[in-house]
Amino acid sequence: MGEQEHQEGWGFETRAIHAGQPADPASGAVVTPITLSTTFAQDGVGGHRGFEYSRSGNPTRAALEACVASLEGAAHGLAFASGLAAEDNVLRLLDRGQRVVLGNDAYGGTYRLIAKVHAPTGVEWSAADLTDVDALAGDWPVGTAMVWLETPTNPLLTCLDIEAIAAVAHERGALVVVDNTFATPYLQQPLRHGADIVVHSATKYLGGHSDVVGGFLAVDDDELAERLRYTQNAAGAVPAPFDCYLVLRGVKTLAVRMDRHCANARAVVDLLVAHPAVDRVLYPQLPDHPGHAAAARQMRDFGGMVSFTLRGGEEAALRVVGATELFTLAESLGAVESLIEHPGQMTHASAVGSPLEVPANLVRLSVGIESSADLVADLEQALTHA
Ligand SMILES: Cc1ncc(COP(=O)(O)O)c(C=O)c1O
Repeated sequence: MGEQEHQEGWGFETRAIHAGQPADPASGAVVTPITLSTTFAQDGVGGHRGFEYSRSGNPTRAALEACVASLEGAAHGLAFASGLAAEDNVLRLLDRGQRVVLGNDAYGGTYRLIAKVHAPTGVEWSAADLTDVDALAGDWPVGTAMVWLETPTNPLLTCLDIEAIAAVAHERGALVVVDNTFATPYLQQPLRHGADIVVHSATKYLGGHSDVVGGFLAVDDDELAERLRYTQNAAGAVPAPFDCYLVLRGVKTLAVRMDRHCANARAVVDLLVAHPAVDRVLYPQLPDHPGHAAAARQMRDFGGMVSFTLRGGEEAALRVVGATELFTLAESLGAVESLIEHPGQMTHASAVGSPLEVPANLVRLSVGIESSADLVADLEQALTHA
């Protein structure tokens, strides 16, 4: 049986460890070597062995691309130097006058890239409430060529129905891009629900240890993959081989980490829903959470991100984020250690004054994989400052 046939029959955890990573044929090394060489010897002009120049293709990157593509159930994977570099590569598919519709609750950096970098070049954009698919269909913005969504969203964790949005978009000839950073392919595989392109900030759960910045695209369609790969090489925002190795290493434990992230998030949610200082808890498993039904259909579990608002307003939120001892006050998410932040003044500051502005009394948690009792105790003491 060839490697490809093996991979199709393998379970998620097996593919995370083995897909695209056979023992090195030259040495037998079990771990994919970090190939630093920028150029590759050719047997004759045009007679290369799969690699010519490391911007165009590199063996360590190829292993990562094959592995994460397999986890997303995609025919093609493309790795980038950051999540935003991957997003930029996708947005370059749009011509002047074409429109991207962005969910009105999305990562501030995505909003900034679209509104401040691509819009000035002539790309049209608008924000939409993608929880209301009928409204999207009824009021389809002129010229829309792409619908861009996150599910769960950052930072409100709203879940969107990928299948329903894809049906509306495809009927009107638009591509659907899903940022799967929060869910990861372990919890949700958007291509199976009709998405055309999956985007990742590999900096988050894929890397999983807060020690590498990276991005990823997963695509099934050959022609679309060809266009994206052309720009990947032509614009050149590719990751270093060492960074590819770090993401590959992170991905090997993705399933076990995600199981623990989800279990710890549940323990934290139990504390928060019962706490008098807390106004609202945002977590996709809660039955009244926006998009809970879609999340229950699309996702294996509900993830490691938890957001909440405080009755005491922004001042209380700022006091709480400053009072934790185990949760580190920091941007980013998705790694083994727990983080806390104030989206309004930190990760989403670039969205102030835009349709994507977030509530000032909001706190976001990236629940790590420490002992859950320690995490709950830390939040309990921090909330006494609310
Ligand atoms: C949902 C989401 N998408 C994309 C990005 C951008 O990724 P990167 O920081 O790796 O460029 C982030 C970063 O926080 C994110 O949270």
